[in-house]
Amino acid sequence: MKTLHLDLGERSYPIYIGAGLLDQAEWLTRHIAASRVAIVTNETVAPLYIAKLRAHVASLQPVEVVLPDGEQYKTLEVLNRIFDALLSARCDRRTTIIALGGGVIGDMAGFAAACYQRGVPFIQVPTTLLAQVDSSVGGKTGVNHPLGKNMIGAFYQPRAVIIDTDTLNTLPDRELSAGLAEVIKYGLIRDPEFFAWLEGNMDKLLARDTEALAFAIHRSCRNKAEVVAADERESGVRATLNLGHTFGHAIETGLGYGNWLHGEAIAAGMVMAADLSHRLKWLAAADMARIEKLIQRARLPVRAPETLGPARFLELMAVDKKVLDGRLRLVLLKHLGESVVTDDYPRAQLEATLASMRAAA
Ligand SMILES: NC(=O)c1ccc[n+]([C@@H]2O[C@H](COP(=O)([O-])OP(=O)(O)OC[C@H]3O[C@@H](n4cnc5c(N)ncnc54)[C@H](O)[C@@H]3O)[C@@H](O)[C@H]2O)c1
Ligand SMILES: [Zn+2]
Repeated sequence: MKTLHLDLGERSYPIYIGAGLLDQAEWLTRHIAASRVAIVTNETVAPLYIAKLRAHVASLQPVEVVLPDGEQYKTLEVLNRIFDALLSARCDRRTTIIALGGGVIGDMAGFAAACYQRGVPFIQVPTTLLAQVDSSVGGKTGVNHPLGKNMIGAFYQPRAVIIDTDTLNTLPDRELSAGLAEVIKYGLIRDPEFFAWLEGNMDKLLARDTEALAFAIHRSCRNKAEVVAADERESGVRATLNLGHTFGHAIETGLGYGNWLHGEAIAAGMVMAADLSHRLKWLAAADMARIEKLIQRARLPVRAPETLGPARFLELMAVDKKVLDGRLRLVLLKHLGESVVTDDYPRAQLEATLASMRAAA
């Protein structure tokens, strides 16, 4: 078991990483001061893991909220079901909410915790690779709107993040790959040594080698925790975590939520960001090729869907919240391992990327 700390003054919290953590009560119970708990999960994860949590909090009359599974249910309407359940069970403001599931559940349960009675404590128990390396850490919570991804939300930090790496044993291959997209992201934006490690260990990760996965999760969380500690509210460096996301969110929204997985969309988005960085003569051709190759080896798409033309893409990208004062700010790569956030690039170059980085019909 390894522990990292996200250093945010009085809102600091631990990130526990290890095999079998859900079989031990202490990681959870030490962060529950409350008289009540509510476990928020979905219909896929509940049958797999809710019994383990229930056993640890049985004396606290746990309320169980089981939501439908899927990105298309990350909405205000479905969020309201959490409030219905909490109010029906007369949960007070000392209730601790436990998010058990992937990024969709973590984002929704966290937002519910931020809003319920103006804020109740919550704990993240992420069960997908994506949630373990990214979404459970850092306090971004929220839901989608038909006009844009994650457009309704709040910054709200958990009290602890409990990562039981054994939960990955039941994760479908496609979801494992989607999580690897965010893992690769850390190498690209700030950790070139990790990128090189990923090149050497991608086959082990895909084969679910437990040591390789534990290392990748720990290294990813460390990168995320450092960035969030430096810039919790995304006024600067935190924005670099959005590499590929302005392109990727356009794909997710444009195709309809749930068609491409989030990790798949940002994988293609990162290749698009790399392509534009190369057009600006920042990123070397050889590094561009390394990036594309590694993403491909992770079994992720490296081109945008053929159906999204440049005009539609630009329209969708303009809704993303990285637009400040009408200019589209993008995360681009100065080099492999060094990122910048900029709106200073010729529009024609962006259009060239959008036109050339589509899958062939
Ligand atoms: N808050 C943030 O900082 C942040 C960062 C990155 C992504 N996100 C958000 O996270 C979401 C994507 O998260 P995700 O990729 O985890 O998707 P997800 O939550 O939809 O989970 C993927 C699938 O795996 C299933 N699942 C979860 N755990 C499982 C397990 N252990 N075994 C078997 N199946 C399991 C889920 O039920 C679901 O079908 C997106 O909404 C994205 O916007 C948020
Ligand atoms: Zn993401």
